[in-house]
Amino acid sequence: MRSSTTTRTRTRTRSRLRLAGALAAVLVAAGVATGPVAQADERRGKEPTLADLAQRHGRYFGSATDNPELTDEPYKALLGSEFDQITPGNSMKWYATEPRQGVFDFSKGDEIVELARANHQKVRGHTLVWHSQLPGWLTSREWTASELRAVLKKHIQTVVRHYRGKIYAWDVVNEAFNEDGTYRETIFYRTLGPGYIADALRWAHQADPRAKLYLNDYNVEAIGPKSDAYHRLAKELKAQGVPLHGFGLQAHLALQYGYPATLEDNLRRFARLGLDTALTEVDVRMPLPATEEKLAQQADWYREMTEACLAVRRCVGITLWDYTDRYSWIPAVFPGEGAALPWDEDLRPKPAYFALREALK
Ligand code: XIL
Repeated sequence: MRSSTTTRTRTRTRSRLRLAGALAAVLVAAGVATGPVAQADERRGKEPTLADLAQRHGRYFGSATDNPELTDEPYKALLGSEFDQITPGNSMKWYATEPRQGVFDFSKGDEIVELARANHQKVRGHTLVWHSQLPGWLTSREWTASELRAVLKKHIQTVVRHYRGKIYAWDVVNEAFNEDGTYRETIFYRTLGPGYIADALRWAHQADPRAKLYLNDYNVEAIGPKSDAYHRLAKELKAQGVPLHGFGLQAHLALQYGYPATLEDNLRRFARLGLDTALTEVDVRMPLPATEEKLAQQADWYREMTEACLAVRRCVGITLWDYTDRYSWIPAVFPGEGAALPWDEDLRPKPAYFALREALK
């Protein structure tokens, strides 16, 4: 099967090469350039990718992905060619990496890291401390503060050490605040108090001193109580010399809730604290069905978000929360909503994709 496919491919390639040769001869006769550069461009595929375009601005352009999707070859091909950064959508979360206490499983995370290596992509590690998708052994009993501190430290350090040198940036703490800017009452906050955040950052830094360490959350794109809480906390942590390097704005937007018009100013005020920022989980969902009008508005939002990031030097990159509606998390979690990503379920680019290209040009 494989060898006959290979043979077929070779035959096709050879006849294509012959065709290309004939075409080149015609073009040369017509005085059109067919030098090595033009040929290399042609071989690479005509258009620069989103990653190529972002790189011209010193940014990355990435996508989340998840292990089950990697058997989908057309999906995987685009993931490998269009993006220069990937984030594992689930496989580095606590339930996946430490399914039993002290028993670590890096198989799925390793698969993503290996894929990224093969495609020369950076990896954002997601996520070390979060109240969601925790293993049952952790949530189903009470812990004293000193027990939980030890559990948390061991988890962070074992995971970060395993991926040392392979992860560009870690979402160390995810979703620590409520909408009103108070601390979320997670198992970590309840048991350890707010100091768990500084501790987590210090432990992660010890385990991989070169990884960029981020706090990450949703509904923090605009200036408001929740992003204010991060701004305050980040300022304090920096003043205390805690290793914090970036602030991740998930940017799970929804057409029905309006565009966060203060995004650019918000990015700027974090930059002024000496932090990188990144749009880490971008999607723009809408009530279904998708209409031409909604898709056009969605495209505008993708364009505006990209322009906001490009306008702020320390906004280092943009990551889609997967790139195709085929694998979006939205329909499962927000019933009746979807169509949130720049490629549709058939992997066809939507208006949002062309808007991204324009913004990056
Ligand atoms: C989502 C994944 O995409 C889903 O597959 C999973 O079922 C639930 O989590 N904010 C985050 C991400 O930080 O980890 C979430 O990912 C989406 C919201």
